Amino acid sequence: MRIDIITLFPEMFEGPFSESIIKRAVKKGVVGIDIHQLRKWTTDKHSTVDDRPYGGGPGMVMKIDVAYRALKQIAKIEKKNKDVCIILPTPKGKRFNQKLATKLAKKKHLVFICPHYEGYDHRIESLVDEKISIGDYILTGGELPAAVIVDSVVRLIPGAIKPESLKEETFSKENYIEYEQYTRPEIFEANVRGKKIKKRVPKVLLSGNHALIAKWRGKMSK
Ligand code: ADE
Repeated sequence: MRIDIITLFPEMFEGPFSESIIKRAVKKGVVGIDIHQLRKWTTDKHSTVDDRPYGGGPGMVMKIDVAYRALKQIAKIEKKNKDVCIILPTPKGKRFNQKLATKLAKKKHLVFICPHYEGYDHRIESLVDEKISIGDYILTGGELPAAVIVDSVVRLIPGAIKPESLKEETFSKENYIEYEQYTRPEIFEANVRGKKIKKRVPKVLLSGNHALIAKWRGKMSK
């Protein structure tokens, strides 16, 4: 898979993409990720990406012509192409979930166009394939939502992580919550807000009886 992200703040992606599973997936060639500075597609000497709103009012509006030039180059938007999916992170979009992550993980090419400040000229919606919200709250821009979506999609691409790890995880089936997991120590004692606690690993997990364990795990998961 290829992922391109068009943003005013490329540095916001440095942390999340340079650690752990995403870093390894890029290194293994499972996915290629490129972050692009939107200002590259401006044509004036001030690299203007926004302008005053028609009809007046506070704030600025991001220019659609700049986004279009970026999408022409990065997503070849003039041509029909089922393999590429252009995504606009917006609180007004479809709510992101594991099902949508699975659908996106099957695409060959994802292109994110990240709004910031007051957002894009409304006509941006005519240029994108998906408008996605990561929840009912307002963030300062589309960068963090794009990073969240990329993280959840990349781990689903074959080769990113062991297939066994994806099999029985939470949300891998509708409304499925994974069973509880434990490791050593067998008995854990602590002081929590003035109260002594003593927590044991469920006996069944120490039994060595795999049939019983499977049954318990089946009951645990919802
Ligand atoms: N931009 C600002 N808030 C957002 C949200 N909750 N989801 C997606 N994009 C956003």
